[in-house]
Amino acid sequence: MSIDVEAVRRQTRGVLGVTHLNNAGSSLAPGPVVDTVVGHLRREEEIGGYEAAEEAADRLEGVYSSVARLIGAAPDEIALAESGSRAWAMAVYSFPFVPGTRLLIGRTEYAGNVIALRQLARRNGLQIVVLDDDPHGQLDVEHLQRELDRGDVALVALTHVPMANGLVNPAAEVGRRCRAAGVMFVLDACQSVGQMPLDVQSLGCDVLAGTGRKFLRGPRGTAFLYVRASVLERLEPAMLDGHSAVPAGAGGLEVRGDARRFESWESSAAGRLGLGRAVDYALALGLDAVQERVAGLAEQLRAELAAVPAVTVHDRGITRCGIVTFSVKGNDARNVRTRLAEHRINVSVAPAPSAPADSAPTGTRHGPDLVVRASVHYYNTETEIQRLVSVLPGTS
Ligand SMILES: Cc1ncc(COP(=O)(O)O)c(C=O)c1O
Repeated sequence: MSIDVEAVRRQTRGVLGVTHLNNAGSSLAPGPVVDTVVGHLRREEEIGGYEAAEEAADRLEGVYSSVARLIGAAPDEIALAESGSRAWAMAVYSFPFVPGTRLLIGRTEYAGNVIALRQLARRNGLQIVVLDDDPHGQLDVEHLQRELDRGDVALVALTHVPMANGLVNPAAEVGRRCRAAGVMFVLDACQSVGQMPLDVQSLGCDVLAGTGRKFLRGPRGTAFLYVRASVLERLEPAMLDGHSAVPAGAGGLEVRGDARRFESWESSAAGRLGLGRAVDYALALGLDAVQERVAGLAEQLRAELAAVPAVTVHDRGITRCGIVTFSVKGNDARNVRTRLAEHRINVSVAPAPSAPADSAPTGTRHGPDLVVRASVHYYNTETEIQRLVSVLPGTS
């Protein structure tokens, strides 16, 4: 079944005012998601926060089942969190690191994850090994294999869809090799979830983190963590509270057995319900159909951009996704973004795909390494894409 673009646009109020091509930043949420969030906030206003949560208890529980269904997991392997980074870190900081072991990461690992790994490496006496890209710009699985064969690997961390180079890393192949080597595989799916089908069994990951606001179209401040049941026991959370553990015996404690051991007690019930609604919305559309539409629109955008002499498209990889990166000769990426914003077209800027894995995170980047990032979603139209290309500097 293909996406009914008119129908999804009718449910997306934002498309009336902007051409939103910043879905890798934060999508326009559909009406049903916003209604769910606002509806719960109203109930909190009317009857009280705890009472509203009690009233919505079944629906809140249902969020875990929805997320589990989205990625082929069991509900007790799911934790909810306030950001993808925090979800990822809750699992990774809990790993029982042995000094002298090595962390294998890709060149396009998310910069925030790299910072966390550097701290862990410093604290625990670990070495970070940045794996090469293959000639297509994706993680070189042969290099991964050589490092796995050398041994002493604590974990492999991979960003499934890097924030800015258009490709999808070969996660299932990485998972297969990690499993064969008995090494834990941590997958950052923040940019892939919501724009393509994900299945933790075929991906072979032990940990997966996803965020709500990007291609899933959920509310800001929402995210989820998957931890495979068989590794849960090995990961005692770096932080505990009265939700994740209970006192036991004299001075002891018992950590809960499911993935909610990584959660904190307090959370936004409205946000969680909105996340669940966004997941259900994506599932109802079908992630295969979503991927087909998103990849098709992105290919159209790349083709139209490539036809403009002043434009260079930087995307790499064999399998591509909804993220398109480009630069316009003689124009700083930030100026291009400003110009597009004047036409009510939202894009973002990002480090060039050639930037190393440990490049500076958002906010501290410098001009020459920046590219424009336009990220499409299924609710965008062919006409919107043509508009973007037609108003670029040098084309009008
Ligand atoms: C690849 C990738 N991983 C992780 C994150 C972090 O997600 P969050 O901002 O929800 O912590 C981002 C955010 O841009 C991202 O692009």
